Amino acid sequence: MSDLPVPGAASERPRVAVLFGGRSSEHAISCVTAGSVLEAIDRTRYDVVPIGIAKDGRWVLESGDTGRLAIAGPDRLPEVDGSLPVLSVAHDGEVGEMLVHEQSDGRGALGRVDVVFPVLHGPYGEDGTIQGLLEIADVRYVGSGVLASSVGMDKHYMKVVFEAAGLPLLPYVVIGDRQWRLQPEQCREAVDALGYPVFVKPCRGGSSIGISKVASRAGLDAAVEEARRWDPKVIVEASAGHGAREIECGVLEGFGDAPAETSVVAEITVGADRDFYDFAAKYLPEESTRLDVPADLEPSVAEEVQRLSAAAFEALSCEGLARVDFFLLPDGRLVLNEINTMPGFTPTSMFPTMWAASGLAYPELVERLIQLALRRPTGLR
Ligand SMILES: Nc1ncnc2c1ncn2[C@@H]1O[C@H](COP(=O)(O)OP(=O)(O)O)[C@@H](O)[C@H]1O
Ligand SMILES: [Mg+2]
Repeated sequence: MSDLPVPGAASERPRVAVLFGGRSSEHAISCVTAGSVLEAIDRTRYDVVPIGIAKDGRWVLESGDTGRLAIAGPDRLPEVDGSLPVLSVAHDGEVGEMLVHEQSDGRGALGRVDVVFPVLHGPYGEDGTIQGLLEIADVRYVGSGVLASSVGMDKHYMKVVFEAAGLPLLPYVVIGDRQWRLQPEQCREAVDALGYPVFVKPCRGGSSIGISKVASRAGLDAAVEEARRWDPKVIVEASAGHGAREIECGVLEGFGDAPAETSVVAEITVGADRDFYDFAAKYLPEESTRLDVPADLEPSVAEEVQRLSAAAFEALSCEGLARVDFFLLPDGRLVLNEINTMPGFTPTSMFPTMWAASGLAYPELVERLIQLALRRPTGLR
């Protein structure tokens, strides 16, 4: 017990729990992000509680040692230490706040938490499940709610919602688990109709994990099986094509009734040695990925990206923040690739970089997200 921070007694500062790690393949990235967020939160305004979710799903009270959360190389990825004191989360109906208990002796309440910053990517984090837990616990949190988080995580339903909103997309085929097991030939024919190359992806993945570019029918089965290692539901998309450009834009919810704001538009160019923006290109520092912020685009194209980004945010009823990713096709058409409701969030990640270039520095961005969350009630809204 003596290791636990003393609950709220000394201050009336809002208590922010930074929740990170988690059970998804993006565990390490989440740790890296949490390190940056923990450093950026203004300790004169908030009390901070770092809560790690170990790979096995246990919640632990982390030390908040941000040095330990950095990436040290391809085989030196940070991880939540599952041997730390285990926590359980309970809802106190009377005070309407989340109480975090140290499980070992059952009595030590870590105290009230006013707002949670779930710095979690992927399944069990960015997909609405944590958001649902926090709704039940009646605790406010940063970012999108249950529905937007889960739709944003699922590349299949994301496209269904985007299509219904009239947003431009590339053609795609969804291969469910039963279909692949019972009617693989029909699945292959549907993919053939898209025309090769295609991109084969786990529907609910991230960080490019499990994604392959497939040049012909011969490589399809292996790519589907690789995607199925991560998710039984697979999506196959037509390629944006040779010479297509990758464009991104940040969206932030407005305060009160103000409309969502969009950042400057950015471009990602992967090195010639890479087929696409894969895990290494995204996270390993020695890679030759180039980020242009702002992107070199005609003003009218950049404005269209911003308009479509705000429309995508709206289509899913997102809250807080989102990054919207596009392809600018060789023929000049813009199509949406995806929306990320908890985008990469280290100071050098795209989302914060785009906002910094728009005049909102990293600590201010963190502050804004916490303020938006503190003002937003849980429940139907
Ligand atoms: N249809 C496509 N055409 C061309 N490149 C693609 C396509 N889909 C994905 N990619 C490449 O793969 C990367 C990862 O795909 P994405 O759908 O964004 O998955 P993730 O959610 O893992 O980021 C993209 O950034 C892009 O480089
Ligand atoms: Mg992506």
